[in-house]
Amino acid sequence: MPIKSRVRTVPHYPKQGIMFRDITTVLKDPIGLRATIDELVRRYKDVKIDKIAGIESRGFIIGTPLAYALGVGFVPIRKKGKLPAETIGHDYALEYGTDRIEIHTDAISKGEKVLLVDDLIATGGTAEAAVILIEKMGGKIIECCFMIDLPDIGGRARLEKRGHKVFALCEFEGD
Ligand code: PRP
Ligand code: MG
Repeated sequence: MPIKSRVRTVPHYPKQGIMFRDITTVLKDPIGLRATIDELVRRYKDVKIDKIAGIESRGFIIGTPLAYALGVGFVPIRKKGKLPAETIGHDYALEYGTDRIEIHTDAISKGEKVLLVDDLIATGGTAEAAVILIEKMGGKIIECCFMIDLPDIGGRARLEKRGHKVFALCEFEGD
């Protein structure tokens, strides 16, 4: 398990009771970094994909080298106010309050096949907002792909309920 074994668990971060799954310890190790990207390349190399959409910020770290290796383009989905040209956005609920992610209106063309990439899925709120944006632009989600799934929190089920395929390189149960 070259990936899961390299994830660092930080108890009580960012607040009491949360077990934070830290990918920096995977990425700093050349074996962990290579295993992460290589495993995803193996999974998607024969799949017809037009674009990879990565979610700010940790989704950029994995999404961009994967796009490069697959020979497809990369588009960023960013937190509000960060993209310079015309955008569409979607607000989503957090435990307290709301957040918003945005994408450039010219990032994805109608009918393009899009792989959504992020480091981790917990509640699935962020990924769900991203798929809503991609579909609003006429993109077709091929799969939603993550380094880490926390299945007990329910994000995977939430995306699957919307009819999306979900893939994760590893899971941590009991979160
Ligand atoms: C974290 C993580 C995912 C999201 C998962 O990002 O990287 O993007 O939360 O949570 P959810 O499934 O409950 O929506 P965060 O917003 O902390 O920002 P970062 O990637 O910029 O660190
Ligand atoms: Mg994130």
